[in-house]
Formats: sequence, C-alpha cells, structure tokens
Amino acid sequence: MRLTRRLAAIAACVPPGVVVADIGTDHALLPIYLVEKGICPRVVATELNPGPYRSAIEAVNLQGLDGKIEVRQGDGLHPLLPGEAQVIVLAGMGGNTIRQILADSPEVLAAVRRLILQPMVDAGDLRLWLVGEGWRLVDEMLVEEDGRLYVIVVAERGREKVSDPYLLEIGPRLVEKKDPLLPAYLSKLMAHYQRILKALARSRSSRAEEKALEISDKMARIQEVLKEWP
Ligand SMILES: C[S@@+](CC[C@H](N)C(=O)[O-])C[C@H]1O[C@@H](n2cnc3c(N)ncnc32)[C@H](O)[C@@H]1O
Repeated sequence: MRLTRRLAAIAACVPPGVVVADIGTDHALLPIYLVEKGICPRVVATELNPGPYRSAIEAVNLQGLDGKIEVRQGDGLHPLLPGEAQVIVLAGMGGNTIRQILADSPEVLAAVRRLILQPMVDAGDLRLWLVGEGWRLVDEMLVEEDGRLYVIVVAERGREKVSDPYLLEIGPRLVEKKDPLLPAYLSKLMAHYQRILKALARSRSSRAEEKALEISDKMARIQEVLKEWP
C-alpha cells in the first residue's frame, strides 16, 4: 500500500518495533501501512465516530490484518490502557482538540514515549501546552500535499530548550532546520491571523482588544523570522 506524502511523513517518524496507537484512524491507512511494512508488530486504531470506525474495521479485515491491528471505538485515549502503546499518533485534527485529548488521559500519557502529532490548525497552542507539560520537541517538519501545507510535531519526554512563546508559535525545530517550506507556511499563518484580526476589529470588547494585541505581536515576530530568512 502507498501512503500520501503527509501520512508517509508521519509513518517515517515511527521507530521500528513499537506498538502504536493511531487515534482518529478513519480508514486505518496508517496502521495497515505500519504493519504491512513490518515497522510495527501491532497497532491499536481508535475512532470516535461510527462511520469511520466501521470503515477502519472493514479495511483491516480486507487486508487480513485483524490479528495485528485492533480497532476500538471511543473518545481520544480512553480506549487505551496505560502502557499499551509506546507511540501515539494524532493526525488530521485541530491543535486544541489534540491538546484536549492528551490532557484528558494523563494516566495513559504517562507511559507513552513518543507523540507524533499533525495538527490542522493551532500548532502553536499545542507546542506551548506540550512544553509546559514536560515534553520536548524532538523534530518538526512541513509536508506539502495537494497544494496544502501540513506541520508534523514529534515530542518525547524531557525539557524543551526553547521557551520563547513566539518561537514556539512558529516551530523552533522548523526554524533551526531552515525548513525550505517555512516561508510559505508562515505566509499562510500570517493570512490566517489577518482574518482573525479583521473579525476581532468588529468587536469593541476589551477581551477582543487583548486578543488583537496578542495576534499583532505574533505577526510581528513572524515578520522578523521572514526578514532574517536566508
Ligand atoms: C480528518 S480525520 C483524520 C484521519 C487520519 N488520522 C489522517 O490523518 O488521515 C479525523 C478523524 O478523527 C476522528 N476523531 C475526531 N475526534 C476524535 C476523538 N476525540 N477521538 C477519536 N477519534 C476522533 C474523526 O472521526 C475522523 O475520522
């Protein structure tokens, strides 16, 4: 089976030999790939919603992999027992949904060695939370697929050396690695913030003003990074 570039990049972050839990697996494409390629001996694939849960079961059965991939229905990490998976993948959801799912199950998270996260939005909020909870960002990458840019964040237990919230917003490993897709990614982030600023400008509340200031600061920092880009 061939994966799309985004899922292939996620698969490449999985260390061989570990049990992975793929949360929100949808069609179970990643679990099937990881087991078929012999990267993982076993994968637990979970789904919240009945439709994708059924699709995942069908796909796994079709490949004859039901002995190695267990599909479970449930919310976030709740279908997992502590210690069952060493690596957790959460891909294709919002950064704040991912953060909430992780925060909701501290006992499962305590036994996890690596998180592979692909937030669709709000990656900065997710990084800030991870760092505050004692995770370090071991790697980050950008992947282009069908004209869209996706960010992947890999975290392991430990102290993150970067605490600057603006750098955490952008992605410290992306900046260090001078990821060639970073300028395009930051331009999209700037456009996203512009839209939020426009919406906030319609409100007169002090909360909206505070939020607008926060976003303007973030934009100024992004512009600094873009200006210094080689
Ligand atoms: C956009 S799909 C991404 C599928 C796959 N992870 C990928 O990256 O291609 C998001 C999936 O997450 C599932 N989902 C959303 N919230 C969830 C939760 N709290 N727990 C488990 N699954 C969830 C949805 O049903 C959906 O199938």
